[in-house]
Amino acid sequence: MELRKINTNDIEAQWAYTTELPTDENGLTNPYNGVSYEEYKEKVLPTLISYEHPVNMPDWFVPETYYYLWDGDCLIGEFRIRHHLTEALKNGAGHIGYSISKKYRGKGYGTAGLKLTLDIARKIVPENEIYLRVNKDNIASQKVMINNGGYRVGEDEDHYFMRIPKV
Ligand SMILES: CC(C)(COP(=O)(O)OP(=O)(O)OC[C@H]1O[C@@H](n2cnc3c(N)ncnc32)[C@H](O)[C@@H]1OP(=O)(O)O)[C@@H](O)C(=O)NCCC(=O)NCCS
Repeated sequence: MELRKINTNDIEAQWAYTTELPTDENGLTNPYNGVSYEEYKEKVLPTLISYEHPVNMPDWFVPETYYYLWDGDCLIGEFRIRHHLTEALKNGAGHIGYSISKKYRGKGYGTAGLKLTLDIARKIVPENEIYLRVNKDNIASQKVMINNGGYRVGEDEDHYFMRIPKV
């Protein structure tokens, strides 16, 4: 199993994943559901790759890197790392967002993928802890976080705010 940064070689599998990913599932948003291969190739992929080193983006935009979890030839899931916090991210989505393809859920991939993502995030993120947010009714994702050392630091009406120590 490995995490590979978004790239042009894996375009077909990445497109298939992105176009199938729901627009909003448990707060993980994807504006590219249903996008055509051509549009993915011409617009979406270059845009997503550029997020790591953003140009002409608004001040609030934090560099974000997309990774895909692969098991052999199968693209299993997507993990996004936002490189540092802003006030909005601190009180919102935090550093990491992820999803696993529906057909591969419940097999330990979410837990394993977050572990690999944390290995990378720990080197990028300047804050002392990794911040995450999860919907209160998203038991699977809460377990993925807890399995990786996550603990709850707060809540609002719909979410728990979780943190994972960097060391
Ligand atoms: C959340 C998500 C990433 C979990 O991925 P996954 O590969 O199924 O996770 P795992 O297989 O590692 O399972 C983690 C735990 O959740 C449990 N679990 C899995 N699916 C579950 C479900 N539908 N209901 C309750 N528990 C569930 C597993 O049994 C496992 O429990 P354990 O740690 O006690 O063994 C996946 O369901 C998903 O992509 N959901 C949609 C997007 C999303 O919610 N993203 C997270 C936003 S914070």
